[in-house]
Amino acid sequence: MSSLVNKHILLGVTGGIAAYKSAELIRLLQKSGAEVRVIMTPAAQEFITPLTLQALSGHPVHTNLLDPEAEAAMGHIELARWADLILIAPASANFLARLCHGEGSDLLSTVCLASHCQIALAPAMNQAMWAQASTQENIDKLKSRGNKIFGPGQGYQACGDTGAGRMEEVDALVEQVAGLFSSNLLSGKKVVITAGPTREALDPVRYISNHSSGKMGYALAIAAMEAGAETVLISGPVNLAPPEKISVVPTVSALDMLAASLEAVKGADIFIAAAAVADYRPEHSAGQKIKKTDDDISIALTKNPDIVASIAALENRPFTVGFAAETNNLESYARKKLVGKNLDLVIANDVSNQAIGFNSDDNQVTLISSEQAETLPIMNKASLATHLISYIAARVTGV
Ligand code: C5P
Repeated sequence: MSSLVNKHILLGVTGGIAAYKSAELIRLLQKSGAEVRVIMTPAAQEFITPLTLQALSGHPVHTNLLDPEAEAAMGHIELARWADLILIAPASANFLARLCHGEGSDLLSTVCLASHCQIALAPAMNQAMWAQASTQENIDKLKSRGNKIFGPGQGYQACGDTGAGRMEEVDALVEQVAGLFSSNLLSGKKVVITAGPTREALDPVRYISNHSSGKMGYALAIAAMEAGAETVLISGPVNLAPPEKISVVPTVSALDMLAASLEAVKGADIFIAAAAVADYRPEHSAGQKIKKTDDDISIALTKNPDIVASIAALENRPFTVGFAAETNNLESYARKKLVGKNLDLVIANDVSNQAIGFNSDDNQVTLISSEQAETLPIMNKASLATHLISYIAARVTGV
């Protein structure tokens, strides 16, 4: 079965008899590893209850754009950012028309307007409605804008007709959804990524570290793997499960991470330094636990090596990417890092903004290279990782 691990699927259910199949669809998406949240249109709720889909998805079902309580819990903009993919199944003829015309007349159409992520639709309707010129024109327009259309299938319909218009079978839908997340952009390439914090030991039980969650580096590693790359993830200590099909090298200190990186970059095409490496380590790590006394103590710190700069200095260096977390003068500081560390690309983010960066699920970055600076929209870290990997793949492969 295809993997949807780490993926946020926003399932939109619109009004049609096939709405009952969304219960099974949620289960299969979850079985593939996805987290699923559900939006139902008013008509969908005539066919299946929000309570059923809430129980299956494990989250309250979103139904109303103008409900202040629901907006306060997870509003339409938050839902739009949360999603890596909006899957509308079943998609009624009416919803196709509304999406096509850019309406924001209910929660689902508004979230579609507000999201930067891919939208996939599984149309389901009577065969005559599907065959209508208006429906077909809407489908053509939606496709030309990059939306994916799955199905519909042929066969017996609930209304007694036979023909095209049945919703795609749910297991086939899940396969096609998983296929949207994989590409060959980096097939044959090796990508090495550092992630998470480092820990610099003071003694056997204490260390200096930081709050990096590792989420961005892990998301990048998954995106690189999905783009077909052989992926090595050099991870500091984090609370994240090792992703499937990725070779994870666990490390603790900056010195460990440097040694692992130098080993892993042999034959690598791309190195991405997403780790929050401690700049300093204690000059001496005590062999025994440091005992408390009545006196103050001081700890001498020594500078850690710069891992990304060390990789960029190698003779046969990979395309080397660093991050710059700044609170002010984002572009000029990031540009200094680009030049100072001899990088090919710096991914800069403003950490003074609480909604993005360390430990948050969303991020907004500016891509800085010698030729240009481009700010991407705010999005969740998994979607951002996919965008970043596509951008880097284009720079490396020239396509
Ligand atoms: O210099 P600064 O720490 O702001 O640079 C951040 C970038 O450099 C990140 O990509 C980080 O992973 C990398 N870095 C590193 N080794 C260090 C310090 C930072 O690879 N010792």
